[in-house]
Amino acid sequence: MEAMPKDRSAAPPPAEYLPQHIGIIMDGNGRWAKARGLAREYGHRRGSEVFMDIARYCKRIGVRYLTVYAFSTENWKRPAHEVAVIMQMLQHYLDDSEQYIKEEIRLRIIGDRTRLSAGLQKAMEKAEKASEQFTELTVNLAVNYGGREELLHAARCMAQECVEEAKDAAQLDFDDLERHLYTAGQPDPDLIIRPSGEKRLSNFMMWQSAYSEFVFMDVLWPDFTPQHLNEALWEYVGRDRRFGGI
Ligand code: IPE
Ligand code: IPE
Ligand code: MG
Repeated sequence: MEAMPKDRSAAPPPAEYLPQHIGIIMDGNGRWAKARGLAREYGHRRGSEVFMDIARYCKRIGVRYLTVYAFSTENWKRPAHEVAVIMQMLQHYLDDSEQYIKEEIRLRIIGDRTRLSAGLQKAMEKAEKASEQFTELTVNLAVNYGGREELLHAARCMAQECVEEAKDAAQLDFDDLERHLYTAGQPDPDLIIRPSGEKRLSNFMMWQSAYSEFVFMDVLWPDFTPQHLNEALWEYVGRDRRFGGI
């Protein structure tokens, strides 16, 4: 591939080098608000706008799958008010289906929905149905998502199949497990980006990230722009992915 440009933020790499699937841990909303003397919820608000801008940009440059971490299974530990604000924002975002329909983005929600309000669950089903015909970009919105919960859920489903369908546990393979992941049928993320300066996975896509490339950036999510994404993409194309080979 051609040499890296001097300014890696100006444009994305050529389409044929782009990752098929990008995961983003949208982190730093609270710190962004705090730095401005604002309540944390303003950071979440700005963060949700950035999410839409980045989704639009991904579609424009030809990324096929984008998974964004919006609320983890551990985020229930936060003050009730903050959790309520995030849930309200999600509800509002899902109810406002015009946005992603207009953009022709397929929306899927991944995570354990059973703990969410009936209204939110309904809005999720509606949003998925309303956008299922779009094929260019699929956005997975991870809500009450945890990689460990996802694997436990898959293990339970397989155990149930062994009992109910008299399957032999010794015959279970990777495909059996992957069929029960929330991302079944999708390619693994090639690239996982975490802004905000933290360098950890925080329970995001534990199975799917086995061979992902990681890019950690100091920018806080509400300040994240397509230019930051371009930088991460150039970093990604410069990596040598070996998958255990030579
Ligand atoms: C990410 O931003 C959004 C959620 C986890 C819901 P944070 O709220 O974690 O922001 P910081 O890490 O406290 O700055
Ligand atoms: C990860 O961020 C979850 C989301 C971005 C939704 P956290 O802010 O919850 O992660 P930790 O607590 O710093 O590991
Ligand atoms: Mg955080």
